[in-house]
Amino acid sequence: MDNFIFKVPTAIYFGKGQLDRLGMVTAEYGKKALLVYGGGSIKRNGIYERVIQLLQEEGVSYLELPGVDPNPRIDTVRKGVRICKEHGIDVVLPIGGGSSIDCAKVIAAGACYDGDAWELVLDGRKIKKALPVVTVLTLAATGSEMDPTAVISNLETNDKLGVKSEHMLPKASILDPTYTETVNAWHTACGTADIISHTLENYFSQKEGFMQDRMAEALLKTCIEFGVKAVKDPHDFTARANLMWAGSWAINGFLKLGKEVVWSVHPMEHELSAYYDVTHGAGLAILTPHWMRHVLSDATVGKFKTYGVNVWNVSPDMDEWEAARLAIDKTAEYFKAMGLPSHLEEIGIGEENFGIMAQKAASRLHGAYVDLTSEQVEQIFKDAL
Ligand code: NZQ
Ligand code: ZN
Repeated sequence: MDNFIFKVPTAIYFGKGQLDRLGMVTAEYGKKALLVYGGGSIKRNGIYERVIQLLQEEGVSYLELPGVDPNPRIDTVRKGVRICKEHGIDVVLPIGGGSSIDCAKVIAAGACYDGDAWELVLDGRKIKKALPVVTVLTLAATGSEMDPTAVISNLETNDKLGVKSEHMLPKASILDPTYTETVNAWHTACGTADIISHTLENYFSQKEGFMQDRMAEALLKTCIEFGVKAVKDPHDFTARANLMWAGSWAINGFLKLGKEVVWSVHPMEHELSAYYDVTHGAGLAILTPHWMRHVLSDATVGKFKTYGVNVWNVSPDMDEWEAARLAIDKTAEYFKAMGLPSHLEEIGIGEENFGIMAQKAASRLHGAYVDLTSEQVEQIFKDAL
């Protein structure tokens, strides 16, 4: 195990009723907030009204940036930065899923930067400070509520890029699973696939991480049990709560401690989203089993068998290759059972951009579990068609 420093300074307020603390928590960081949210789900499920009430009770004034798209756009970030600069915003307050939170993080950084915010997405080292971010999470998926990353799309260049900076780590995040009960079956399934994928990205790495890998298996089992339950019964609080907390831990840095981790499937999926604006988790669910089949070899079969035995209850007595293949089949079947697609054609993607998408993805795969060339990535896209 390599040396590491583990520090996640985000304060988490988890559970029923924790939203009540929002006014007090926000007021710690300033008296003027920018509310950042999406297409209106927060108005339909009542959380918006309650947020306004809580801010008013603590004397926090606010401006609003509604309409953040899933796969948030740099144009929306720019709009938010302008509001922050013109109105002297103290604290940025996203309410929603990963898209609103990611958008808010780059707004917070852009508000403290003289150039264009896209420059920060291209090079996170340019982020020297950011306004404080306090999040209210309404969808279990990305883990953005407890990580330093934001993913932003630029429609002009067909780029969807992740940027990381400690300065963008939320100061506090409120996680009340009750507010995720209004997430529909599709986004619940996509969110679960995203959490599973984050865990797998950390699990399948060149260096073994014994304790972290056992923790990863526990997170995977949690998602497998409760993802399907939440899809079937949206008001299953236990399922919603477990998914929400698993989502934060899958990506807050813990699972990769002591090993080198370069992600494999996410760079490929980000190309799908960049070119076709698909839902992130759906793209991951399609690509993951195909990626697994592609990287299965004498060198990796042992790890895939361990995955099968510890996560999917495959018999330890089974032949290595048989066990590994069965584990991959079970992964694919699970995504299908949650109502997710198995092929790119099902979400309207053809092979017209595979070449360029594969090149872009492959440039980010050096050091991944299995280093893939752009030809190999293109083959995975074709297999997934
Ligand atoms: O826009 P509204 O009306 O709020 O509706 C949203 C949206 O349509 C809806 N929703 C959210 N909470 C709801 C709800 N509907 C009903 N009830 C609720 N309580 O769900 C839809 C999807 O929301 P979105 O925020 O786009 O989903 P998600 O949380 O999956 O975020 C996806 C984005 O995060 C990026 C993805 O690439 C994508 O751009 N990621 C961010 C990461 C990070 N920051 O670390 C890592 C991830 O791998 C990922 O790349
Ligand atoms: Zn993801």
